Amino acid sequence: MTASYQVHDHFYDVVVVGAGGAGLRATMGMAAAGLKTACISKVFPTRSHTVAAQGGISASLGNMGEDNWRWHMYDTVKGSDWLGDQDAIEYMCREAVPAVLELEHFGMPFSRTPEGKIYQRAFGGMTKNFGAEPAQRTCAAADRTGHAMLHTLYQQSLKFDTEFFIEYFALDLIMDPDDGACRGVMAWNLADGSIHRFRAQMVVLATGGYGRSYFSCTSAHTCTGDGGGMVLRAGLPLQDMEFVQFHPTGIYGAGCLITEGARGEGGYLVNSEGERFMERYAPSAKDLASRDVVSRAMTMEIREGRGVGKNKDHIFLHLDHLDPKILHERLPGISESAKIFAGVDVTKQPIPVLPTVHYNMGGIPTNYHGEVVTLKDGNPDHVVPGLMAVGEAACVSVHGANRLGSNSLIDLVVFGRAAAIRAAQVVEKGAKHRDLPKAGDEALARLDHFRNAKGGSSTAKIRDKMQRTMQNNCAVYRTGDVLKEGVGLINEVYKLMPDIAVSDRSLVWNSDLVETLELDNLIRQAVVTMHGAENRKESRGAHAREDFSERDDHEWMKHTLSWLDAKGGVTIDFRPVHTYTMSNDVSYIEPKKRVY
Ligand code: FUM
Repeated sequence: MTASYQVHDHFYDVVVVGAGGAGLRATMGMAAAGLKTACISKVFPTRSHTVAAQGGISASLGNMGEDNWRWHMYDTVKGSDWLGDQDAIEYMCREAVPAVLELEHFGMPFSRTPEGKIYQRAFGGMTKNFGAEPAQRTCAAADRTGHAMLHTLYQQSLKFDTEFFIEYFALDLIMDPDDGACRGVMAWNLADGSIHRFRAQMVVLATGGYGRSYFSCTSAHTCTGDGGGMVLRAGLPLQDMEFVQFHPTGIYGAGCLITEGARGEGGYLVNSEGERFMERYAPSAKDLASRDVVSRAMTMEIREGRGVGKNKDHIFLHLDHLDPKILHERLPGISESAKIFAGVDVTKQPIPVLPTVHYNMGGIPTNYHGEVVTLKDGNPDHVVPGLMAVGEAACVSVHGANRLGSNSLIDLVVFGRAAAIRAAQVVEKGAKHRDLPKAGDEALARLDHFRNAKGGSSTAKIRDKMQRTMQNNCAVYRTGDVLKEGVGLINEVYKLMPDIAVSDRSLVWNSDLVETLELDNLIRQAVVTMHGAENRKESRGAHAREDFSERDDHEWMKHTLSWLDAKGGVTIDFRPVHTYTMSNDVSYIEPKKRVY
């Protein structure tokens, strides 16, 4: 098979796949440590989805009142509904402070307080004193924080001796059949059609989430979970895929994000009766309860007939009471989005909003060094040699069953840096690469198969079926019957893949083929998401089962692992949640009822 494609070989110590916040921070750190580093990205780095992050990045700097990383840790554990690994959460919350200061020193243009400190705003679930009162912990660059961060990281990464392979699409991992180690990655140069075999001692997957498995999401069209797809094809499991975050405020109809920072600056939600209903659902935190709580409350209001609009199917977000100067200074991006996508002048009218898929808590299981782990011979923390994952692609797990807003950007930089530190320890610079005569053959066979696919169902048709199934059957609220039906439906969609039709046979800028390969990544993750949701018989964080409405720590305080075989069969097993901290500087936070 390889013979029909000319393959260009490259040899590196490390190859990072993805150039968003996590990928760039990993790349930079690895190159700085003297490792021969390549970074492959299917889009130009500053087009990565990190650019779209709005409200901010969490760190207990204490610029706007007292703060403490232990309070941040408590909020994150509680936000995760006790599914997060507490050693990893401790690591993230402690390292958040130096990570943000590092970004400041890199030149990131944060908004400033009158004294010139980094501006911090309130965000959902972020509190002082273990839940006592709201904390202003989310460091912001107006409402374009991801944009500022991504550009800063890309500028910085150019300082180092890294080679970027831009608009290269990663096809599959090169796995060593002898010891299960990852030895590199195959990639396709979209611009000239050439095929590349990247051999590496360590591959780092920083490929983002798979939001596009749903019909309506805030994610870019590029968020197709390419790393997760590669991991499943390599016979490794994904973790906690049933936990899909719905952001409360996607613009109704368009899905574009309206940052939680809007509520952090004083915005509030109302129903058709003009009621600030969050006061009933979360008497203390109100509109700044965590996202799963707010999304459920909005869904309930709509279901009970108190939605707004002609069809009573959405909710209003009011910002019109805020000083226009504040809106201009701190929320310029969403003011523009509201105008463009909802035709609304935020100084005068409410924004129509609806919970919209935003983030995948699940992903490739890792430890807090970024090393991919799996369950092997009874060891739930077996490290897969040669493979790391960081950012939304990974499940460390710091977000557990529900991520707090602004804990994503911090996850990117903290664990991007952690992976670089670890790689510098475990990768031998310039080490010889093992001979693997068949390296990449399967990846090329797959590429060739889709390139020449002559079936009866177009990629767009299958993708549409998948997205509608996920939207209808794996939503904010779930029931056993709907999930069972969803399992049947998504299995049927998966079975359409062998019948796929690709019309463009070229290798140069073949977007038909790119979308097909992306769909192959998405559908695999959609399947394990639906199966995982059907399997988990409790409610926890973003997984709200109406037939099992309570959290069940006795039975279900464990991570789901799911494997997918070539025929679409799903195997489910579990890993224990880490109920211990990283150091003695903080104690394990005991589970309790989660109220806001
Ligand atoms: O609402 C937002 O600005 C999103 C932030 C996040 O997902 O962390």
